[in-house]
Order: sequence, then structure tokens, then C-alpha cells
Amino acid sequence: MKRSPFIYGNTVSLESFTNREEETKKLYNNLVNGINTSIISPRRWGKSSLVEKVISDINNQESGFKTVVIDLFSVSCEEEFLETFAREVIKASSSKFQDWINSSKYFFKHIIPQISIGVDPTTDFSLSFNWNEIKKHSTEILNLPEVIAEKKAINFIVCLDEFQNLSGFKDYENLEKKMRSVWQRHKNVTYCLYGSKRHMMSEIFNNPSKPFYRFGDIVILKKIRKEKWIDFIINGFKKTGKSISEEFATLIPELMENHSWYVQQLSHYTWNNTNKVVSRNDIDFALNELLRANSPLYQQQIEIISTTQLNLLKAVLSGETQLTSSNVMSKYKLGTPNNVNKNKTRLVNDDIIQEHEGLFEFVDPAFKIWFKTHTY
Ligand SMILES: Nc1ncnc2c1ncn2[C@@H]1O[C@H](COP(=O)(O)OP(=O)(O)OP(=O)(O)O)[C@@H](O)[C@H]1O
Ligand SMILES: [Mg+2]
Repeated sequence: MKRSPFIYGNTVSLESFTNREEETKKLYNNLVNGINTSIISPRRWGKSSLVEKVISDINNQESGFKTVVIDLFSVSCEEEFLETFAREVIKASSSKFQDWINSSKYFFKHIIPQISIGVDPTTDFSLSFNWNEIKKHSTEILNLPEVIAEKKAINFIVCLDEFQNLSGFKDYENLEKKMRSVWQRHKNVTYCLYGSKRHMMSEIFNNPSKPFYRFGDIVILKKIRKEKWIDFIINGFKKTGKSISEEFATLIPELMENHSWYVQQLSHYTWNNTNKVVSRNDIDFALNELLRANSPLYQQQIEIISTTQLNLLKAVLSGETQLTSSNVMSKYKLGTPNNVNKNKTRLVNDDIIQEHEGLFEFVDPAFKIWFKTHTY
């Protein structure tokens, strides 16, 4: 049996990647021309996939560039960040193991890294520092890509995924100032910083009183357009020996409001349920399957919010526009106008609702469908 042409759960950068021509071009040009770039979008619209795609294009098409993508999702303190940063930059600087050993020795002035070699010496090495030393000399580590780039006469592109994760660290404000002051002097290194928590990312890059304000270009990633999804879905079925009508290939992105992850997930379930030609039944069945698969997440989401926040969500779901009118507040038991405003901020900051042309709407289209049928 053929494998599903629809992929979710991993980043898609080569196979199963569609559209994003404009964003790809812009990010590519920024990164090879030394323009630092940050990317902001809600969860699972495709930030990581876009960066991977662009980095892979750069690796294929440009000589003289070294690139590295570091995911900060599971990094939990400043020392760990600095260590990971140093290790990944050194690894990316050369494909030769001996070079790594040399870089680790020659590129540091004040701190001495310990290097240990794993089972496979050609790919596996670890670098560690004395944690008491590492923070004292953080500038030296943050400067590493520039030092290596100069020495080797190359350009470095450093991509940091889930960048907002750093802002939870103790003493983040100092680290933030240091990163900014070191990195802005780099002539041979370009940074791409991106992450999911929209309000945290905006706070880092859009707040004039913060160090990263005007650090570079900010790309607000949009959704992939419906027409692109329709072609992508029809093609995916076709190349695996199945078929879907234009009508049903339109229904999938419509149901999922063009949300990248969910369009892929619903397409995959539909593909899986279909022998040859997609019927309406196949799509309904797939949608139920999708809601069932995601329901533990949704359940969790509503368990952590308060009753007045839940009521506010119901008001948003019903399309209420005047959330602080006394009518709406009493109908949905929203509390005082102050409560409404606070709850609104909280739900926006948690990326559950967003403002669009003056109105509030759900960020997650499948959660919206689930919420409709699971609350009353
Ligand atoms: N250009 C694309 N073409 C097709 N599908 C895509 C594209 N970009 C993203 N997707 C789909 O969306 C899913 C999520 O993408 P990705 O992990 O890149 O998003 P993200 O914004 O980095 O998410 P997170 O906020 O969770 O880090 C992918 O697994 C894939 O199914
Ligand atoms: Mg991501």
C-alpha cells in the first residue's frame, strides 16, 4: 500500500510542503543578505517547516554558508541554552570531527570545554562546560558563530526555534540584553528567531523598551490560501491512486479554516478511510476521528480555564460582538466589564481567541467544532 501523501506531526519541508512561495523567497533573501528575521504565527501554521525548507534550499544553492537550526523547546535554563548553542554551532561549522575538536579548543579564550566522544565518533560528540563558569563567560559563547565565521571566512545562519522559551528563564532580562548586544555586532552571522507563543514573541520583538526591538525584519506568517490547499489535496490523492472531487477537496480546508496542521490531518484521515473515490461520508467520518483524536487536548484546555472564561468563549462562539454590553454580560454570566477585559486578555495571550477585524474568533478551528458539541 502507498504511504499517505498527507503529513502532520513533523515539520514538512520537502515532501508534503506546499505554497509559501512568497514567504520562502523573502526569508531566503533576508537570511543570505544578512537581515535578521523573526517569524511569528499561531501554533502549527508552519513556521518550523518554512525555516527548514529555506535552510535546505540555502544549503543546496549557496556555497560559503553554514547553517544551524536549534530547537529550544526543551532547554530549561540559561546554562543549558549556552551549552546547546555552543555545541550546535561548532557541529554546524564543519563536517569533520577533528575540526570540532580543534574549534572547541581554539575558539574559546576563557572557558575550557570538556569534550567527550560517543559511540560513533563521526557524528556523536558532546561538549560540556563547568556550569559555574559558563554564565560568567556567556558573551564568549554568544560570540562563537562570529568568531568561527571570521576564522573560516564563511557566513553563518543561526535559527532558533521556540525562542520565546528563553523568556521563562531566571534572569532572562540580562541574557536578553547580552544576546542583543553581542549579536547586533555580528557581521557574518544572520539570526532567524521564531516561536509559537504569539504574545510572548510580540513582547520580545515589538516592544520599544525591549532589547530585541528593531533587531531585524518581522514576518507575520499567514495561513496558506484555500486554492493552494485544493490543488495540494487533489494532487495528493491522485498520485497515490485515489481521487477526490473538487467539491470535497474544497470542503476540507473550509472545515479546517485553512489551518495547516488540521488540513493535513483531515486530509490524511479522509485518505485513509477512502478506498478509491472520496465520498461525503468519508469526510464526516474523518472529521469525527480527528475530533476524537484531539479531544484529550481540548478537554485539558477547558479544564484549566475559569468558569467566566468558559462563558466568554461561549459568547464568542455565538458571535456576540458587544462583549461588555450589560445584555451580553448577564446572558452569558460574564461578571463585570473588568472581568470581561481580563478574561479576554488571558484568552488572547493563551492563543485561544484572537482579534480579527474588530471581532474575536477562535484560533483553533477544530477546537471550535469540538467546543460547540461539548459544552452547553
Ligand atoms: N507549507 C506547508 N505545506 C503543507 N503543510 C504544511 C506546511 N506548513 C505546515 N504544514 C502542516 O502543518 C504542520 C505544522 O507545521 P510546523 O510544525 O511547521 O508549524 P509551526 O508553526 O512550527 O508549529 P508549532 O507552533 O507547533 O511549532 C505540519 O506538520 C504540516 O502538517
Ligand atoms: Mg514549530
